[in-house]
Amino acid sequence: MPLISAPALNSRFTQLVLAAACSVVLLWLLATSYDVPQRFHVPGVPSWRQSGTAKPPKTTPTHSTPAGDHPIDRLIASAQKDFDALLTRETHTLEDAARAYRRRRGRRPPPGFDKWYAFAQNHSALIVEDFFDQVYDDINPFWGVPAKQIREQANTYIHRVSVRSGNVTQRTDIPQRDWMDLWQDMIATVIAEGGWLPDVDVPINEMDESRMVVPWEEIDGYMATERKERKEVSVEQLKTEYHSLSDLDIHPPADFDPGFNGIGPYWPQVVVGCPPESQAREAYIDTQFETPPPLPTGFPDHSYEGYVQNWTLAKSPCDNGHLQGLHGTFVEPISIANTKKFFPLFGGSKLPMNNEILLPAAMYWTKDPFYSGGDSHGTSWSSKEDKLVWRGSASGGRNKAENWIRFQRHRFVSMVNSTSVALAESGLTPPNFVLPSSDSYPLASAGAVAPWLADWSDAAVVHLLCFPNDYNLPTCPYTDPYFHVAKALPMSAQYSAKYLPDIDGNSFSGRYLAFLGSTSLPIKATIYNEWHDSRLVPWIHFVPMDNTFADVYGIMEYFLGNDRVGLEGHDEVAERIASAGKKWKERVLRREDMLVYVYRVLLEFARVCDEGRGSMGWAG
Ligand SMILES: *[C@@H]1O[C@H](CO)[C@@H](O)[C@H](O)[C@H]1NC(C)=O
Ligand SMILES: *[C@@H]1O[C@H](CO)[C@@H](O)[C@H](O)[C@H]1NC(C)=O
Ligand SMILES: *[C@@H]1O[C@H](CO)[C@@H](O)[C@H](O)[C@H]1NC(C)=O
Ligand SMILES: *[C@@H]1O[C@H](CO)[C@@H](O)[C@H](O)[C@H]1NC(C)=O
Repeated sequence: MPLISAPALNSRFTQLVLAAACSVVLLWLLATSYDVPQRFHVPGVPSWRQSGTAKPPKTTPTHSTPAGDHPIDRLIASAQKDFDALLTRETHTLEDAARAYRRRRGRRPPPGFDKWYAFAQNHSALIVEDFFDQVYDDINPFWGVPAKQIREQANTYIHRVSVRSGNVTQRTDIPQRDWMDLWQDMIATVIAEGGWLPDVDVPINEMDESRMVVPWEEIDGYMATERKERKEVSVEQLKTEYHSLSDLDIHPPADFDPGFNGIGPYWPQVVVGCPPESQAREAYIDTQFETPPPLPTGFPDHSYEGYVQNWTLAKSPCDNGHLQGLHGTFVEPISIANTKKFFPLFGGSKLPMNNEILLPAAMYWTKDPFYSGGDSHGTSWSSKEDKLVWRGSASGGRNKAENWIRFQRHRFVSMVNSTSVALAESGLTPPNFVLPSSDSYPLASAGAVAPWLADWSDAAVVHLLCFPNDYNLPTCPYTDPYFHVAKALPMSAQYSAKYLPDIDGNSFSGRYLAFLGSTSLPIKATIYNEWHDSRLVPWIHFVPMDNTFADVYGIMEYFLGNDRVGLEGHDEVAERIASAGKKWKERVLRREDMLVYVYRVLLEFARVCDEGRGSMGWAG
């Protein structure tokens, strides 16, 4: 769904906003009690994290190299080691790349690997086998399902891109779908630029939201089969050709029912994709979204002294059961069309428990400046303002009077809003967030976060996406007291600020690559996986943030410091990460790199669909 941009403020509207601003304090007083913030019990979360009254245990980051005395310094030093290690795994020849493949995947590379490699080289791609880990997370379970079944399901799915003898075609249910066109173009470009693809059908999720959650136990069974059958076929037995799919075109298989079900709630359908021992499987099911959000006042789960140390873990709803009440995806998605059947379906992003096969998101292939930011990447660091800027619609799901207090974009904007934080610091209970306790985060700004925020924070929604309401109106009766609707800012204007938070909307946030490629510093919170995850190293290429946003003040205080209390920041560290992220984006997240990724995933998918897959491979 394209985001809705706000019309320019007219004077009548400005008056309304001013009136709303004047009455807000009164409304707040009416709407809240003077009690200290309630304590919310989140099952499975240790009580010190919930109450924030007890000190968390001191831990060390997973592999520590103290380099500065702030936890973020230590996280950066540790991330640098991870990144250096990743770089040592770069391969420079076809033989090296094939060896790295066999070592990491336990099989021979698929037929056509040499052509894939030549394509990657011709496109100046940096090749590290780890960059393709997502391909195997996504495709391996299919080795546990008969090839014929996968092939036929892929062929009958209504929305699909097909390759036949090098011709790329598309089929969908209406005359034109933008995302389908973009993905078709992405695949056709592989061939147009010298690649070779076998016959393959690529069934595509035409919706923004990911839609398949197969029970974990079922996938585990397929993975066990995959592991059992995984082997390096001897050269004598090797089959190096793919079958053509022409007989599917001559004798189309019977349709199958993908089993999409539009009935919520969503969370119980999603947790079945989590491992049985995971926190989310054990957590109670939250259905009361009118109650205050289940936010800890202490350090976020799994953090290192309050900051993200394991990005995979921090993002995972399976390991953070409280996210069921803190993210629009679970509180109330715009549309649910979920299936627990396992069949091939490609998409641009997914939750860790979804079973789609990822492609680079179509949004990343578009040249539309709304997502790409156009050709402007911002000016030099020193000419930027020491500010954080965020603009976006209040998306994330269907927010309503009775559930908006659980939505992530609303929460983020409130938490960096000086006025709302001032109210919270004066002892009132904010409706949609909790200030982290100063016992856990030793902030220099503690107790006076609000005036400090006023110095640097510029976050606002451009549309409140009220429900039910007329979407032509950006305002909203139940959220107007808490939010000022601002004019949209083009990305190039946002780049005049040093700090660019990036928060999930209805699914992943499509501007992320543009932010990474800018001269500003992205601060990222998400629950979604994307094709590029294993290419990006948190704290080296971007700043990771917890989905509760409890760490946002600590992160900003580390980078900006606080003049009001004489605290120095780490501007040079921010600049270094911003610039490293940009350079790396220009090195491994280019359009060419998307092609190299698509090429690889399609070779693997074509192999797993092939009757002869068990003995197929590249001979070299
Ligand atoms: C590929 O497409 C072209 C143009 O539509 C057509 O003439 C040709 O026969 C197609 N080739 C195959 C093998 O389908
Ligand atoms: C190399 O890349 C160029 C430009 O993308 C393309 O035209 C050419 O066909 C490619 N050659 C090979 C061997 O992939
Ligand atoms: C990070 O968390 C993931 C998911 O729980 C886990 O598989 C991985 O081993 C962790 N990484 C480190 C370095 O601890
Ligand atoms: C900040 O919060 C106050 C109080 O809730 C509200 O009136 C104002 O509109 C908010 N500002 C923005 C930019 O949302």
